[in-house]
Amino acid sequence: MRVLFVCLGNICRSPTAEGVLRHKLREAGLQERVEVDSAGTGDWHVGKAADLRTRHAAQQRGYDLSALRGRQVQAADFNAFDLILAMDTSNLRDLQQLRPGNATAELDLFLRRYQLQLDEVPDPYYGGADGFEQVLDLIEQACEGLLCEIKGLL
Ligand code: 4NP
Repeated sequence: MRVLFVCLGNICRSPTAEGVLRHKLREAGLQERVEVDSAGTGDWHVGKAADLRTRHAAQQRGYDLSALRGRQVQAADFNAFDLILAMDTSNLRDLQQLRPGNATAELDLFLRRYQLQLDEVPDPYYGGADGFEQVLDLIEQACEGLLCEIKGLL
């Protein structure tokens, strides 16, 4: 199974989701069975490490994002992944436009799929430290739902 998380810049929300899911898969002994990646709809941060605030907040909870580098989502991702999860509705709209006709990947809004109280992971980039904690709270919760789904499919 192959899962791709997508946000706008690929330096805050989607790398956090990648790091959290990788961690949970390792804990469950499923890291060899699931491929995880993240990408941004924009290209500003291609090749860059995740945002320092994101890395620090994640590190505090035991997630190491230091190896991750930004990349932009591409049409080929719609066949290279089984499930593409967007962080907000704007990302979802952009992905729907990019989606090629022969796409095999399922495309969904991350939080809505796992029935959290919110539909979107709010963009923390221009806000304060609280925003980064909220991103982690929401992503940790949604990743529990995703892990249950993965266990049911494998
Ligand atoms: P992300 O956050 O989409 O969660 O990675 C952002 C990162 C960078 C920008 C916007 C959002 N930016 O405008 O550069």
